[in-house]
Amino acid sequence: MTRALLLSFSPHGKAAQTFKLARALLNDLVPGAQVSERDYGAQALPPLTREYANALTTPGGLSGSATALSEELIVELEACDLLIMCTPVHNFTVPAALKAWIDHVVRIHRSFTVNEQFAKVGLLRDRRTFVLVSSGNARKGHEPDFLTPYLTTILATVGIYSVEFVYLGAMVRGDEAVNRAVEQAHQQLSAAIGAGL
Ligand SMILES: Cc1cc2nc3c(=O)[nH]c(=O)nc-3n(C[C@H](O)[C@H](O)[C@H](O)COP(=O)(O)O)c2cc1C
Repeated sequence: MTRALLLSFSPHGKAAQTFKLARALLNDLVPGAQVSERDYGAQALPPLTREYANALTTPGGLSGSATALSEELIVELEACDLLIMCTPVHNFTVPAALKAWIDHVVRIHRSFTVNEQFAKVGLLRDRRTFVLVSSGNARKGHEPDFLTPYLTTILATVGIYSVEFVYLGAMVRGDEAVNRAVEQAHQQLSAAIGAGL
């Protein structure tokens, strides 16, 4: 049975077009899946505490309650074999809600380590991952894209390499543009998921 984790990082939460599309496709294409849904966009994760920051940067400091939320989020991630992240572009990159999730999940000695060559090495199992990206602007050529390379790098840092991006562009250009973007994303995702997980 597929265990899917469906995350929203949009201020619109589960009402975001990306989230609604991902949920509908999971229902249609992976009917027996066990799906966990989380809204980290509208119900944002708390900011990092001083204790958490100290725990991460002090040798031997990684125990106790400071890392409890981080641990919860990592365990939630570890439990899935299909990860779907739904995110808007905010100011050319990931929204603060997604950055908060990253700062809780990318934790030294837990989700990654550093080798003798000072390279970060992921400690989590790779898993099929889709990132649905919603933007106001058209997808290519109109503005810098710091989201795609950043997310690719940060997911690889914890060991997640099997990542496919699905872009829903021009989402502020009226219903017709939205419908077109959703339809294209639907086709891309159906083909990818339909080809097997
Ligand atoms: C604070 C903020 C910053 C934004 N910055 C960008 C941007 O840099 N590039 C872009 O194409 N759209 C930008 N947008 C538009 C959103 O990406 C777009 O409306 C998207 O479809 C929202 O998706 P959502 O409904 O899933 O949150 C921004 C929107 C907000 C609220």
